[in-house]
Amino acid sequence: MDITERDLKHIWHPCSQMKDYETFPPVTITKAQGSYLHLANGTTLIDANSSWWCKSLGHADPRIHAALMQQAKTLEHTILANTTNPTIVKLSENLAALTPNLNKVMYASDGSCAVEMALKMSLHAQQLQGQGHRQQFAALGNGYHGETCLALSVSDCGLYSEPYKPLLQPCEYLNPIPYVSGVEDNKWHDCSEEWHPIEKQLNQIKDTLCAIIFEPIVQGAGQMQIYSANFLKHLAAWAKDNQVYLIADEIMTGFGRTGLPLAIDHAGIEVDFLCVAKGLTAGVLPISAMLTSDTVYDLFYDDYEKGKSFLHSHTHTGNTLAAAVANCVFEIFQEDNIYQKIPELSAHLRQQMEAVANHTGKLTNIRHIGAMVAGDLVVDNPNTRWGFQIFQEAIKLGAMLRPLGNTLYWFPPLNTESHTIDELADITQTAIARILK
Ligand SMILES: Cc1ncc(COP(=O)(O)O)c(C=O)c1O
Repeated sequence: MDITERDLKHIWHPCSQMKDYETFPPVTITKAQGSYLHLANGTTLIDANSSWWCKSLGHADPRIHAALMQQAKTLEHTILANTTNPTIVKLSENLAALTPNLNKVMYASDGSCAVEMALKMSLHAQQLQGQGHRQQFAALGNGYHGETCLALSVSDCGLYSEPYKPLLQPCEYLNPIPYVSGVEDNKWHDCSEEWHPIEKQLNQIKDTLCAIIFEPIVQGAGQMQIYSANFLKHLAAWAKDNQVYLIADEIMTGFGRTGLPLAIDHAGIEVDFLCVAKGLTAGVLPISAMLTSDTVYDLFYDDYEKGKSFLHSHTHTGNTLAAAVANCVFEIFQEDNIYQKIPELSAHLRQQMEAVANHTGKLTNIRHIGAMVAGDLVVDNPNTRWGFQIFQEAIKLGAMLRPLGNTLYWFPPLNTESHTIDELADITQTAIARILK
């Protein structure tokens, strides 16, 4: 049996209709280096979505491998309840330095688990301050926060949550979101008009609201939509006035994707809970973190008998190997001036996507921020999976251009070289032209 047959005999691939694999089998990757995936057939693919948005520094950085090997020699992983070690302490210091007010860190393994922790902890914190009637969550329309049931409960993504409705909690979705094409859009700085209906919606539930969760600035799974930084300023001011917690889900946006260390930095706001994952280890090992303030922490701090502890854990909470990699990633961002280089990449991405749109006439609503650019396919029949067909064509041409429905986007590693973006643009243009003749 070849590897494809062996794969399909056992593996149920994520986020897939497995019948698609009859005609579009999985590509076999033998190694990955920088922004490229090397295939068993001797060809390469540009990793245009940074392997589901996590490989912020590309593949196979020898500094990360050295940090991992060094850690493996001394301590791989131990229970984090009742123990500590220099690696996890260092990572917690690195994370606490991200914001002025979030000083306490709790760890998990995946993004969804960090979101679960933040939602649970916010509810519990409201109870501990005598606000037990605050049990409702609000989230932005078109938002996405993960696949576990509580995370899915606050995600506005029909197809993904529909069958599981009996397991999900109710959530108030805030609409309409003031979308923008980028930071130069007028609405970026002023969305007062759009804010008013949302404020009205929030005022109706303000006495029972526990927390509002949001992906700051970019809604990833929701077709890479960018919204006004001013919206977050309004939201933060309203939440503060109404004793409602704010949960920033930076699992996709964190660590440079929008050009700044955190996307909330665009709005200069403070939140009560922050979730990070993906880029935390530059996608090398799975670890996620949820940060909160000393104020929230103090609500839980008391004699054990008082029953206020946050009794939540995962086996791999604070995995030491992953923590060592994350510390190394913080160092590489400094050493390689990653944040300083993003503006150049950003401009190049935008310019090349505009060029593809102009040449093909088949992309509209181009939007971009930091190291992400997206456009929607112009098609007669939007229910046809044009994006999926273009994805298959792009694989033949040399790029992993996995779309979001009929939205194409580039989300390459932050250190992708300029010639690779040019190559990606050529491939995207040819793939579109071949499918949408
Ligand atoms: C904004 C956001 N939140 C949460 C998640 C879930 O993270 P994970 O897939 O690691 O559980 C994702 C994943 O893409 C995400 O983009």
